[in-house]
Amino acid sequence: MSPTAEQRAALLAAATDARKRAYAPYSHFPVGAAVLTRSGVIYSGCNVESASYPLVCCAERVAIYKAVSDGHLEIVCVVVITDTSPPAAPCGGCRQVIHEFGADAHVVCFNPAGDARETSMATLLPLGFGGASLPATR
Ligand code: THU
Repeated sequence: MSPTAEQRAALLAAATDARKRAYAPYSHFPVGAAVLTRSGVIYSGCNVESASYPLVCCAERVAIYKAVSDGHLEIVCVVVITDTSPPAAPCGGCRQVIHEFGADAHVVCFNPAGDARETSMATLLPLGFGGASLPATR
């Protein structure tokens, strides 16, 4: 679902603010994200790294896990901000997690210069694997 202009501005502000809190002492690549839930609530997140490198959690996943842990299981829009040109899109792992809670989500990738790339989960993860792909267990 495309956000309204007001929601888009709020999502961008939340992601930009979250990016300031990125814990990225190893990659020096701060990322901010914000997600809009079906009920209209915004959750933000930043990437959180570890000295044990593979334990990193991307900004998008932090935002989604915050939403889910508060009981919001439907994500309609994801915004991510990175200082890259063009703005970077969510990594493959994040695409899978976004698909779990927002297979039809609208995705906007920004950079601090104000460039934006608009896309959708259908474009980022075609033929995504999800719960419906699994055989019924009961
Ligand atoms: N990162 C994200 O937060 N989101 C992505 O979609 C791609 C990568 C983070 C993980 C790591 O802290 C840093 O960016 C470099 O990969």
